[in-house]
Amino acid sequence: MSLLEHIDTNRLPQHIAIIMDGNGRWAKEKGKLRVFGHQNGVRAVRDTIEGAVELGIKYLTLYAFSTENWNRPKMEVMALMELLVSTINKETKTLMQNGVRLNAIGDLSSLPAKCSKQLQETMIKTADNKNCTLTLALSYSSRWEITHAARQLALKVQAGEMNVEDITEVVFAAHLNTSEIPDPELMIRTSGEFRISNYLLWQLAYAELYFTPKLWPDFRREDLYAAIIDYQKRERRFGMTSEQLN
Ligand code: FPP
Repeated sequence: MSLLEHIDTNRLPQHIAIIMDGNGRWAKEKGKLRVFGHQNGVRAVRDTIEGAVELGIKYLTLYAFSTENWNRPKMEVMALMELLVSTINKETKTLMQNGVRLNAIGDLSSLPAKCSKQLQETMIKTADNKNCTLTLALSYSSRWEITHAARQLALKVQAGEMNVEDITEVVFAAHLNTSEIPDPELMIRTSGEFRISNYLLWQLAYAELYFTPKLWPDFRREDLYAAIIDYQKRERRFGMTSEQLN
């Protein structure tokens, strides 16, 4: 019996964010190079997207490459960029079939030209898809994003376009890369690490966090279902008391 039957489809999170971790360890366990882990991570990406779309999850955000990942060995960085280009290219058809819109956050200007070209092409092609928005965090880190937003606001104040008092939480959030997507209600991290690693620090303020020991290449839609079931058991209080919620 699939865990799917235990999900209350009336109480789904509308946005799930994932830290796909453990590709390197998965490959090492098999005596292979780290890149082999990333290549096998693509199957997990595909199954997770399909599972999320089937369920009716409206936003899925995947941490595909962090700002810090640029410090990895050059060969691994190049292989990851190549893999991103080829995967986005190959999967464009499936994204269209599933009504998925591709979006990206991060310092996209730092990506190799081939990668940003492929990204732009697929984002334009899928722009009108309505079932789900798939956001890839690429060359992304939360501290970079928040610093970038602070600079943009400072420039506006300096130019006399706004006053310091106009900077509210809503205005600040509107200057983040995620301005057009709601905050995630659920964040999943694989590989048994209990960290957020500079991922959506502002946006995860009230998210439920779910950690699984599974390494990313082994993650499948049943694992996504398990995370959603766990999420549905939680009481989300947003600083209030249980009595107030009831
Ligand atoms: C973390 O595992 C994973 C990454 C840095 C890359 C994730 C990329 C993919 C799954 C490729 C395809 C993605 C898309 C969205 C097209 P790790 O290398 O840090 O693992 P470790 O902690 O075991 O070393």
